[in-house]
Amino acid sequence: MIKTMLGCIREYKKPSILTPIFVSVEVIVECIIPFFIAKLINHIESGNETEMVLLYGAALILLAFISLLFGVLAGSTCATASSGFAKNMRHDLFYKVQQFSFSNIDRFSTSSLVTRLTTDVTNVQMAYMMIIRVAVRSPFMMIFSAIMAFAMCPQLSTIYIIILPFLAAALFIIIKKSMPLFKSVFKKYDKLNNSIQENVKGMRVVKSFVREDYEKKKFANAADDVCSDFTKAEKIVALNSPTMQFAMYAAMILVSFFGAKIIISSGGSAMGVGDLSSLFTYGMQILSSLMMLSMIFVMITISDASMQRICEVLNEESTIKNPENPIMQVPDGRIDFDSVSFKYHENAEKYALDNINLHIKSGETIGVLGGTGSSKTTLIQLISRLYDATEGTVSVGGNDVKKYDIKALRDAVSVVLQKNVLFSGTIKDNLRWGDKNASDEELVRVCRLAQADEFINSFPYKYDTYIEQ
Ligand SMILES: Nc1ncnc2c1ncn2[C@@H]1O[C@H](COP(=O)(O)OP(=O)(O)O)[C@@H](O)[C@H]1O
Ligand SMILES: [Mg+2]
Repeated sequence: MIKTMLGCIREYKKPSILTPIFVSVEVIVECIIPFFIAKLINHIESGNETEMVLLYGAALILLAFISLLFGVLAGSTCATASSGFAKNMRHDLFYKVQQFSFSNIDRFSTSSLVTRLTTDVTNVQMAYMMIIRVAVRSPFMMIFSAIMAFAMCPQLSTIYIIILPFLAAALFIIIKKSMPLFKSVFKKYDKLNNSIQENVKGMRVVKSFVREDYEKKKFANAADDVCSDFTKAEKIVALNSPTMQFAMYAAMILVSFFGAKIIISSGGSAMGVGDLSSLFTYGMQILSSLMMLSMIFVMITISDASMQRICEVLNEESTIKNPENPIMQVPDGRIDFDSVSFKYHENAEKYALDNINLHIKSGETIGVLGGTGSSKTTLIQLISRLYDATEGTVSVGGNDVKKYDIKALRDAVSVVLQKNVLFSGTIKDNLRWGDKNASDEELVRVCRLAQADEFINSFPYKYDTYIEQ
């Protein structure tokens, strides 16, 4: 899974590597700043040291500027890297779906594919952004702040180290409780999308059968389900902030108490007021880094399900592939079915076609009759290799259909499907789906044959009228 995901980074390797580097510089500078502030305050405290105060002040401005610069750089490369990563992933998914055979498509519902290309990609993009930016920043920040704090005052810094495991345990409980809820929310999104898609697609049927209320209820149930799980999960996650604040204030009270004692007993020689205020800053940085880390963990776990769903599509092998050394030309219109059996799914109990032997001569006109569901469409779909026969061979022009170049075969075998689909574009654009090089005269000729010419001429711009579904 990780390998498939990494494969989507491609031309965005550079910003993906630069981001953590920029973030590291930003963090280091951010950790040095409180140290200089401590010095500055200590000098102000002691008075008569204007030069030193100015010096430290200038250094602080410079550091703040460096930190800002690298923060901006990291933000920019991170945006480029994560958006590019998502773009590549959508591109790959879309191209993969184009390669799918009918039986590949049967495995994924349309709504599920739409969710995978939109919500799931966005989730993974967010996680990626977190990983290259925050996941580098937080541990780095925690370690550097701890080092600086210890360098300043080891006794007081121990307080943070003691509080850290308590905060970690609290955060762990919050994650453990909220995670299953987040996971179930994303499963339910599919159901919601399914309900929306079915309804929007079948809007006319819903209306003509006056089923709006039923559909509304069905939708409301799916939406309520998502809402209730999301609310529960967010309510638990909302505990993060007060927990963090509690740990922070507890640490501050302890540090103030013992810090004051140290300053007073040593008369300010062991530690200055400035040092104490910087210790607060380091403490905040240590504890908030831990909280950020826990949030990243939540984000990555949420996106894990999305990653799996994306990889399922990316790693799906197309069931129909071009043969090696394919035949590029269909010699004539002969069609032969030799002992052909077919079922839609390998685990299906019933065959849709069972031992079919059918021989149609080139130029012959044949009608196939049968009740609904008697597999007429199934039979037709095997000729242009929309599905492969489970057993036996289907031949066109005397050659097994599996030996042809798929494009050559499908160009030669025209299939008019029962369900008509219009693509957005002019009437001409839609007609050229059959033959993209057809001349205007040819388009008019076939439309006359299909008795559609008169109808098309009644449109305001005739063949150039823009139409859509
Ligand atoms: N994509 C599919 N997946 C699984 N079963 C299918 C699929 N398409 C059709 N079937 C089943 O195959 C049988 C034949 O369907 P079909 O060829 O569409 O019949 P006809 O065109 O004669 O009405 C039916 O039982 C139908 O439910
Ligand atoms: Mg049919």
